[in-house]
Amino acid sequence: MASVERMAALSKEISDKTAIITKYLSSKGLEAASFDVNGLAEFPIPPEDEEPFKARLELAAATRELYDISVGPKQRLRDLAWDCADMLSLQAIWEFKVPQAVPLEGTISYDELTAKVETLNNLPIGVLNLRRLLRHAMTNHIFCEPKKNQVAHTRTSRLLLEDEPLQNWVGFMTHDMLIPIANVVNAMRKWPASDEPTETSVNLAYNQSLPWFDFIQKDPVFAQRYNLAMKAHGGAAGYAVEHVVQGYPWGDLGEATVVDMGGNQGYISFAIADAFPKLKFVVQDQAGMRTPETIGAVPEHLVDRVSLTTHDFFTPQTEIASVYFFRMIFHGFSNKYCVQILQALVPALRKGSLVVVNDGALPEPGTAGYLEERATRTLDLFMQVTVNAHEREADDWADLFARADPRYHVNRVWKPAKSAMSFIEAEWTGE
Ligand SMILES: C[S@@+](CC[C@H](N)C(=O)[O-])C[C@H]1O[C@@H](n2cnc3c(N)ncnc32)[C@H](O)[C@@H]1O
Repeated sequence: MASVERMAALSKEISDKTAIITKYLSSKGLEAASFDVNGLAEFPIPPEDEEPFKARLELAAATRELYDISVGPKQRLRDLAWDCADMLSLQAIWEFKVPQAVPLEGTISYDELTAKVETLNNLPIGVLNLRRLLRHAMTNHIFCEPKKNQVAHTRTSRLLLEDEPLQNWVGFMTHDMLIPIANVVNAMRKWPASDEPTETSVNLAYNQSLPWFDFIQKDPVFAQRYNLAMKAHGGAAGYAVEHVVQGYPWGDLGEATVVDMGGNQGYISFAIADAFPKLKFVVQDQAGMRTPETIGAVPEHLVDRVSLTTHDFFTPQTEIASVYFFRMIFHGFSNKYCVQILQALVPALRKGSLVVVNDGALPEPGTAGYLEERATRTLDLFMQVTVNAHEREADDWADLFARADPRYHVNRVWKPAKSAMSFIEAEWTGE
C-alpha cells in the first residue's frame, strides 16, 4: 500500500502548494505564469516572499514525481531514452528562425509559414517537415495550433523571438553542445579518466585540440553566442552579485586588500568595494582582458581602491594581500589544475592569509530540492563536456586544499540563503 499512499500524499502536497501560490497571487492581484502568448513567462514571486517562493519549487518537484509515477518506471525509461530526440524540434525552430515567421497576433497556416521560413532561410524545407517539427514542439508548449493547420505563438515560443540571452542559450545548447554531448562517452573511451581540458568531447566532436575558451574565442559568432547564453544562465536569481556582497562577512576583514583572481573586468570587486569602503581590491586576469577601455572602466569613485592588473594564476603570486578571492574559477578546472593554482599562491601567503572561494557547489545527494539538485547535476555534466572539470561537494573542497598543501586549513564551507553558489574559506597556517 505504500505506493498508493505515496500517490495520495503527492496529490495532497500538490493541492496544498498550489493553494499557497494562488492565494498569494490573488491577494496581490497578480497572474500565474502561463503559456498564453501574452501571459507571464515567470512567476512574479520574489525570493523574499519565502512561503510562496518555496511552495512553487516544491510544487514543481511533487508534480514531477507524481508524473513519473503515473507514467510508471517502464514507460518512463522508454520515454527518457527516446527523448534524446526531444531537442530536435527546438533545434530546428531555432536554426530555421521559425519564431520570426509566426505573427505575434493571430495565426498562420502551415503552407504560408513554410513559404516564409523557406524564404527566410533560402532553403527548401517542405511543409510536412515543418509541420511535424512544430507539432512535436507543441507537446513542449512551443507554439500552438488553436485551429487545425493554423499556427500561433505561445509565451514559450515568443521568448525565442524576444529574449536575446535565452535565444542564444537555446542556440548554444541545441546547435553547439548537442554533438559534444553525443561524444562524451567516446571521449571517455579515447582518453580514459582524463584531467586534461584538451581531451574533452568538444575536442573530439569538433576535431580540434584547443582548450574550451581558446576554441570558442576563435569563432566570434560562437563566442558571442556563448557570452549571451551565459547571461541567460547567470541572470538566474541565485547567481546575483548581491549574494557575493552579502554572503561573506567582508566587513570583518577591516582595512584589507583582496586580490580578485580571474576577476574578469572587475564587476564583482566594484560591487563589494561599493558596500565595504575599507577594502581595497586588486583584480587580476589574463592580459587579453586588459584593453585600455576595460582598465578605464573602473568607476571614478573607486579608482583609489580598485586596480585592474594582469596575472596568470598558474604562475607564482607576487601580490601580498590578506585575502585571495576566487569566484567561478575552480569549477572550470580539474583537480590537477586547481592544485597548481593553489600552489602558485603559496609564495605570497603569510600566516592567517585567507583564500575565499565563491563557486558552484554540489549538494550532498538528496539534501537539496529536486529543481536545485537537477540544475547542479546538469551543470556538473557540462563541466565534463566542455573542460573535463567538475563541481565540488563540501568534502571535495577539503580534499583539494589538502592535496595542494597541508598548510591550508579549510575553515568552513557554506551556502548563503537563496544563493546558487557556496563560499569556501581556507586559511594559511604556515609562516
Ligand atoms: C568564469 S570567469 C569568472 C570571472 C569572475 N571571477 C566572475 O565571477 O564573474 C573566469 C575568469 O578567469 C579568467 N582566467 C582564465 N584563465 C586564467 C589564468 N590562467 N589567469 C588569470 N585569469 C584567468 C578568465 O579570463 C575569466 O575572466
